Amino acid sequence: MWFWYNYCSGSQRIAVVSSAVSYQKRYLITFRKFRQLYREFWFPSPSPPPYNHICQIGDPVLRHKAELVNPKDIKTKEVKMILKKMHNVMQKYKAVGIAAPQIGVPLRIFAIEYTQKMADDYDPELFRIREMAIVPFKVFINPELKVINYEKVQFPEACESVRGFAADVPRYREVLVKGLDADGKAVSWQVAGWPARIIQHEMDHLNGQLYTDIMIRSSFTCTCWQNVNRTSGRIYVPFAPK
Ligand code: CO
Repeated sequence: MWFWYNYCSGSQRIAVVSSAVSYQKRYLITFRKFRQLYREFWFPSPSPPPYNHICQIGDPVLRHKAELVNPKDIKTKEVKMILKKMHNVMQKYKAVGIAAPQIGVPLRIFAIEYTQKMADDYDPELFRIREMAIVPFKVFINPELKVINYEKVQFPEACESVRGFAADVPRYREVLVKGLDADGKAVSWQVAGWPARIIQHEMDHLNGQLYTDIMIRSSFTCTCWQNVNRTSGRIYVPFAPK
């Protein structure tokens, strides 16, 4: 160092030091840029609702009473986009029902669908006992529910907003739901059995309720508890399908 100091002129010394500083600055900027790109890749900034994922229990949007949709807005591109997203997310999660708050939209909209393919993959005996049925995709906007048969039926139920768990839930056997469809036309549907259960479940979502509020508490079950034992606990529950 003393050698370099003694044999360089003052201006040479300044030039060397300043180029070292600018190199360091350039290096730091590059490092910061790299860190930013890395963060953006692994932790992208969240996009606003309607989400492509389902919100989980604890999210305040699931606990608020959803707002009525102005019937004049049903044909707007915003509402059409919400309905399309709801259907896409249902298909992605293989869900039989979805309520708008589950994708972060606090509006009184729910959808239901039970496909032939889902029925084919289901135990036929359980399908019969639980009074399940094929239901084409249906949308209810500003739905109102009337109980037709007050007899309660108790079966296991799950919710994509409480992913990884299930519990026995008592529900009314038969209901009548009235609302508006995706075109803003008045529709009503009187149904018993499993579809009636789904309707009650989705109506609860619109009122800020989850099945965990009314479940038989001792039946609350982790749906993969056997795999927890099989893998010595080395298992994780993804909050979205792969
Ligand atoms: Co649910």
